[in-house]
Amino acid sequence: MDIRTFDTPEAVSLAVAARVAEALGARSRVVLGLPTGRTPTGAYAELRRLHRAGVASFARAMTFNLDEFAGVPPSHPGSFRTFMEAHLFSGIDLPAPHIHFLDGAAGDLDAECERYEAAIAAAGGIDLQLLGIGSNGHIGFNEPAEALVARTHRVRLAESTRRDNAALFGGDASRVPHEALSMGMGTILKAAEIVLIATGARKARCVERMVNGPVSTQLPASFLQLHRRVELFVDAAAASRLPGGGAAGEEPRSGSGGSKDPPLRDGP
Ligand code: PGA
Repeated sequence: MDIRTFDTPEAVSLAVAARVAEALGARSRVVLGLPTGRTPTGAYAELRRLHRAGVASFARAMTFNLDEFAGVPPSHPGSFRTFMEAHLFSGIDLPAPHIHFLDGAAGDLDAECERYEAAIAAAGGIDLQLLGIGSNGHIGFNEPAEALVARTHRVRLAESTRRDNAALFGGDASRVPHEALSMGMGTILKAAEIVLIATGARKARCVERMVNGPVSTQLPASFLQLHRRVELFVDAAAASRLPGGGAAGEEPRSGSGGSKDPPLRDGP
């Protein structure tokens, strides 16, 4: 993994947005995989700004979001589809037919997962997949478990994940659905390039385990060690448990991967 460390979450957001803008400019047609969550909102705001400034165009891009709550229609205020509209889609020139989303209100959720997997394949696969990481090490809604499902699938949400998403449901975790639909780790690992964003001390422990811990279904993000082109954009707080972590540097470093050593030093 190439690790890029920045002093602040704001600096991470600018760098991620620049990375996406570069990808949009490099090819005539780009298929993006997109996350929701608090972490990418700064990058999305910067991408809207770059679009307004005429620097970034999504006119020829296609997007596939990672996941969606089950039983929640796209128009629901708590849906990830609504979140993306508010934070990104409403402020850029991405044509509506180019937006792909899992439909949490589909009658047959298993068939919906199959449809999505086929749609990604029909688009030629994902060129650049952006990811956040849950404080429990989940990616999309691939929660820590004894086994992971490779393809897009239905998933039962961890209680910690339901609590983390309470803000979308009026601050009431009991209103967060118990189930979701999510790309699988296999779907994600098929992306040509992956950019994972992590900010804040709350993510420091899972970032350290993701980079240096064993590959384990108990930390789904650790599977990214098996991908050849992963870039990790982190702020100093999220990097604080990495060896030499917390120091912002210009040059990407590589994670050692596979080491079972404990963290070399504690974060704040
Ligand atoms: P967060 O969520 O960005 O709100 O921390 C990340 C995730 O759960 O993937």
